[in-house]
Amino acid sequence: MVKRAEPYRIKAVEPLHMTTRKERVEEIEAAGYNTFLIRSRMVYIDLLTDSGTNAMSDRQWAALMVGDEAYSGSESFFHFEKAVQDVYGMPYVVPTHQGRGAEHILSQVLIKPGDVIPGNMYFTTTREHQELAGGQFVDIICDAAHDPQDLSPFKGNVDLGKLEQVFKEVGPEHVPYVSIALTVNMAGGQPVSLENLRAVRALCDRYHVRLYMDATRAVENAFFVQEREPGQSDRPIREIFKEQLSYVDGCTMSGKKDNLVNIGGFLATRDPEVFEAARELLVVFEGFPHYGGLAGRDMEAISVGIREMVDDEYIKHRVLQVRGLGERLQAAGVPIVLPVGGHGVFLDARRFLPHLEQEQLPAQALAAALYVQGGVRAMERGVVSSGRDPVTGENHHPKLELVRLTVPRRVYTESHMDVVAESVSELYQHRSEIPGLRFVHEPKRLRFFTARFEPLRPSPVFQA
Ligand code: F0G
Repeated sequence: MVKRAEPYRIKAVEPLHMTTRKERVEEIEAAGYNTFLIRSRMVYIDLLTDSGTNAMSDRQWAALMVGDEAYSGSESFFHFEKAVQDVYGMPYVVPTHQGRGAEHILSQVLIKPGDVIPGNMYFTTTREHQELAGGQFVDIICDAAHDPQDLSPFKGNVDLGKLEQVFKEVGPEHVPYVSIALTVNMAGGQPVSLENLRAVRALCDRYHVRLYMDATRAVENAFFVQEREPGQSDRPIREIFKEQLSYVDGCTMSGKKDNLVNIGGFLATRDPEVFEAARELLVVFEGFPHYGGLAGRDMEAISVGIREMVDDEYIKHRVLQVRGLGERLQAAGVPIVLPVGGHGVFLDARRFLPHLEQEQLPAQALAAALYVQGGVRAMERGVVSSGRDPVTGENHHPKLELVRLTVPRRVYTESHMDVVAESVSELYQHRSEIPGLRFVHEPKRLRFFTARFEPLRPSPVFQA
């Protein structure tokens, strides 16, 4: 890989607080060994998430000033609507406070109790809203997605056989829509090919079932298509991006990722009936259709972000920065999910900590230990995030037991990535000392956010 420097320069800086090991040992204990509960000022490099942690451009900051804060008929809404129409090619859009706001509205509009919603791997909030509406999620992703060492280029692809099986078994009338995510977060940021998208569309058409996209990281997906799919390398990202969207009836969007802002999201559709129903619910749960859950200035920042996100140089650097971190870790022998995906590097906790059973929460333990090691904050994406089956109450046991090092957009430099790679590699040398964890507090819904844990035995990994 040719070494590439950042395609931007720094105009404002945010000083970071350096911590001692002793402070971090105290902090992780106070946080119940859950990285979500660590105070941000105690973190050196924050790779918890790429959500809402983006650096906005000078043009986005300038746009905030012209936000029209009218309750209705806001100019900012019309700028936002125009950006979604131009870049996503969707005629109808409602703004929401973030992605899950859009998931809530879509689920309530389309799902009836007893329905089944097939998707290419679950996402936490998406499945939660489907279940709250009385639906049941069924995984139809290809088998390769569950194997961290499978090198297939499009591990986010839908297994068409599995999808057709769902249509036949439950009947298409009980499938309100198929939900397809680009890229697939829980699989490691893996992409879906255009070829697969077209085939999914054709199958949905054959059974008269709607197709909705979780477009949260669809720009990163477009980069992988440009890089890997035959015949796509000369097309601009903007064009590939729009083609991806052309196959679906609508999308939910967390603007906190691709759209390069700190808050916001939307639900967009081609279907005037879904749009009308969504607007009715929007005024109950989010706000008037011209602002949803957002300030006028937020909609301005999103409008600019939507146009910046499809810049070829920007997205190339973004994905290659993530891949560069993966390459440094691979060189140190650290087990990671391959190929490296679009938004982060995922450590394979099963191979990192072969001495722990899944019930001993290896990925949670690894994330906690990494924080103490280098002040690097990551996120568990394994059995804790996966939660319990709402019917049986048993833990889900996902095949993937991962720690996500998520890279915020335009925020960290290559030197920060070096520090991360060093911290993980050093910890890898002491991996056998990392103990398992157990729950001491387990919330009923989306437990990973606020659960608390304790180590199963004392360990130098959690000592000063
Ligand atoms: N869909 C995907 C694929 C996501 O990754 C997220 C959020 C959402 C929907 C929900 O959007 O946060 O704006 O309400 N993912 C974040 C993450 C939280 O860290 O992966 P939201």
